[in-house]
Amino acid sequence: MNPMMKAVRLHAFGGPDVLRYEEAPRPALSHGDVLVRVHAVGLNPPDWYLRDGYRSLPPEWRPEPAFPLILGSDVSGVVAAVAEGVEGFAVGDAVYALVRFPGEVMKGSGAYAEYVSVPASELAHKPSTIDHVHAAGAPMSLLTAWQFLIEPGHQQPNPFQPFAHVPVPLEGKTVLINGAAGGVGHLAVQLATWRGAHVIAVASRRSEALLRDLGADQFLDRAGIAPEEVVRDADLVLDTVGGAESGRFLRSLKRGGALFPVYPLGFAGHQEAAERGITVSTAQVRSSGEQLAQAAALLADGTLRVVVDSIFPLADAARAHERAARGGIQGKIVLDVA
Ligand SMILES: NC(=O)c1ccc[n+]([C@@H]2O[C@H](COP(=O)([O-])OP(=O)(O)OC[C@H]3O[C@@H](n4cnc5c(N)ncnc54)[C@H](OP(=O)(O)O)[C@@H]3O)[C@@H](O)[C@H]2O)c1
Repeated sequence: MNPMMKAVRLHAFGGPDVLRYEEAPRPALSHGDVLVRVHAVGLNPPDWYLRDGYRSLPPEWRPEPAFPLILGSDVSGVVAAVAEGVEGFAVGDAVYALVRFPGEVMKGSGAYAEYVSVPASELAHKPSTIDHVHAAGAPMSLLTAWQFLIEPGHQQPNPFQPFAHVPVPLEGKTVLINGAAGGVGHLAVQLATWRGAHVIAVASRRSEALLRDLGADQFLDRAGIAPEEVVRDADLVLDTVGGAESGRFLRSLKRGGALFPVYPLGFAGHQEAAERGITVSTAQVRSSGEQLAQAAALLADGTLRVVVDSIFPLADAARAHERAARGGIQGKIVLDVA
């Protein structure tokens, strides 16, 4: 039997109280895997979707339970061992990753633990100037923003639509980002700014100063006049809130523009989009060590900044999920494991 470690495991689906901090076997490594001693874990919505048994999603998305399972896909840590077939990583390297996503989305990628096994292809060296807590906040949110706005970076089929997602050029364009203070949103604001877009950020009033500091040119309070009543002729809307309401942004786009709902389920505006000459496109984020390596340079030189909403010890993962359920997340919730 493998040596033991501390982990937060699920033995049943349910609310935050099903997250149990306990002993678990350390993961075994397969060919091409790296064992990472986890220092910090970034939280993402799929963590609470899976904890809950995907009850908020359509039945065909619901997982077959294979308990106990370990949630979590975003890690920053230090290489503890490497299996055969691994090149480019050695014991002691500081690394970060989006682990096995979407491959293990229904089983849990195993990050809420002291150790996790990660395919080397999904790992990158941690940006040298930021700590593990900030690095752990980046992978899923940053790769989502990157794959929607900059480059998908893979040829896998798109589970949400019959065609590949294609980002649009951002230089000199007007880009509205809804949910701009959240995990995906705050990094999307910075990527679009870096690529030379004029960025309109929509979020709660308390995030205005933060978002202007991150590069937003214009700020709209989501509790004020509806953004679709104010904004006209935008080139692109990245709607990180998405869902059934996303179609309202079609009014804010020029003919030839694009709407990217990051949460695409329930979107009902396809006919109106066709009439208005607007492309609607979405995608599912995928693990990519290569893209995290590119982004590491931008995180290291401060072009991109991970904002940390709150930090909880691994043993208090249930409290971290309660924090998430209260909403209004500013940046990332992170578990400190070290
Ligand atoms: N397609 C993919 O592969 C992919 C990848 C990652 C995430 N997602 C999905 O994308 C969504 C966002 O993920 P995330 O990690 O960024 O979540 P998050 O960190 O919870 O951020 C969501 C943000 O939206 C804001 N918000 C909530 N309701 C709003 C509304 N009606 N109008 C404007 N802002 C609103 C919240 O702040 P305020 O309440 O303060 O405004 C919060 O800052 C989730 O549904 C997630 O499942 C999809």
